[in-house]
Amino acid sequence: MAEIGLFEAMYTARALRKFKPDPVPDDVITKILDAAIRAPSGSNEQSWEFMVVKDAALRQKVGAVYKKGGDILKALYADRVKPPHMSEETFNKLMASAMYLIDHMGDAPVLLIASLKQTPPSGPPPKLPPEAAAAMKNLARMAGSSIYPAVQNIILACRAFGLGTVLTTIHMFYEDELKAILGMPPEVQTFALMPIGYPQGKFGPIKRRPVNEVAYLDKYGNHWKG
Ligand SMILES: Cc1cc2nc3c(=O)[nH]c(=O)nc-3n(C[C@H](O)[C@H](O)[C@H](O)COP(=O)(O)O)c2cc1C
Repeated sequence: MAEIGLFEAMYTARALRKFKPDPVPDDVITKILDAAIRAPSGSNEQSWEFMVVKDAALRQKVGAVYKKGGDILKALYADRVKPPHMSEETFNKLMASAMYLIDHMGDAPVLLIASLKQTPPSGPPPKLPPEAAAAMKNLARMAGSSIYPAVQNIILACRAFGLGTVLTTIHMFYEDELKAILGMPPEVQTFALMPIGYPQGKFGPIKRRPVNEVAYLDKYGNHWKG
């Protein structure tokens, strides 16, 4: 493995969706997973579970579920206009790349599914004061918080090993079908399906909206100028 700096990895680990058929060695997958589990999780619960799918027939089945999710995405995106920060060319490239993956998810040498296992309640639900009960409305937003840091570690570890990947989510439209294929129990929820392989395309550079546009100092709207 060639050494790569952390910032170089962050600035070049763009979404890659086309892969060479070359297999990914198991020890490399182990190291990627070992990087994943260094991530933080709420209360340090580490209730994550990762499915590594290498079997070709299973990958095709998982790919078929992703494709079904892709049909929903296509319907949702039918009238989607390009976001203002993207050039027409960048937007078209993104769409073409996403559409390619919809048809080829199962061809990636490895499919990695990042999940969380719900801890069964240890007793009856706690009686909360009304104010605390009302605050629970924000709980849904926390759903993926304990797995996405691990997913980002996977993205960076892949980059370090010269592997491409992308965080995808549209399998969730048909998550039950995916779980049935892999024998995953109901208490395990999937949050990301990541194809992994040696990329056909090149890494980076990653372009984003500038910091002074998206960050504020002290008061919302007071753009960060540092
Ligand atoms: C929460 C989340 C969900 C995503 N879901 C999908 C997906 O279902 N399919 C897909 O092809 N890409 C998906 N992506 C990848 C984004 O399209 C990609 O990260 C974004 O376009 C930036 O790409 P870049 O790093 O190459 O600039 C997702 C990314 C995130 C963060």
